Amino acid sequence: MIFCGHIGEINTGGIDPITTVCDIVHEAGGWVHLDAAFGLWAAASPRLRHSLLAGVDRADSISTDTHKWLNTPYDCGVAFVRDQASHSETFRFEAGYLHLNPDQRHPSTLNIDISRRSRVFPLWAALRHLGRQGVADLIDRSCDHAQQLAARMAKEPGVQVCNTVTLNQVLLRFEDPTGTDHDAHTAQVCARFQHDGVGWAATSTWKGQTVLRLSLSNWTTSSEDIDQVAASLAQAHRATGR
Ligand SMILES: Cc1ncc(COP(=O)(O)O)c(C=O)c1O
Repeated sequence: MIFCGHIGEINTGGIDPITTVCDIVHEAGGWVHLDAAFGLWAAASPRLRHSLLAGVDRADSISTDTHKWLNTPYDCGVAFVRDQASHSETFRFEAGYLHLNPDQRHPSTLNIDISRRSRVFPLWAALRHLGRQGVADLIDRSCDHAQQLAARMAKEPGVQVCNTVTLNQVLLRFEDPTGTDHDAHTAQVCARFQHDGVGWAATSTWKGQTVLRLSLSNWTTSSEDIDQVAASLAQAHRATGR
């Protein structure tokens, strides 16, 4: 049995109750994998680490992306696997021409590809450039921006903030002033917002409804940008369908 938990659910940024999940799944002899594509970076923030990620070290494997919150180029993901033997037995294969020395670590025995460029280099460069404090600042700043945007949009008549903002995701739904089709209205607000160009976000489907999914993660984003994004969204909402 493999249980796949979320550390930063794709729409809401929500985080599963990790300790409870690990207790139950491990008791049943299962394996806990955490999809932490966004959320694992909260561990870099002293402010968020304990409240959001307590127990994360009990997972059997965790995956995260650096091309999301760390702003490295596509495609750079990282997997942490506790059981080294399971990991290498899953991917290991031998071929005479590869001349794999048993005393050395070979990346090709730990993932699907044999030939791959050095995806780790941009990650190394970003971490060297930002440093521990720089990464923490980036994470805290994005989460603050998510709170700022959610608070601002919650004041706008006819706009719902659909998620509890804990990380860097804000889910918005825009009500059609004629009361006819909130899904279509939300999609139209999204199109206007994209055209306006002060920010970029796309729609998603949450609990069967169309929502606008905003992911605050760009290192260049400032608090003033968030104000502009909020103004652009409010304007798109007011101008659509009237
Ligand atoms: C939680 C989560 N998992 C997985 C993915 C997919 O990541 P990738 O496109 O790097 O495979 C995303 C993308 O937004 C995500 O937010």
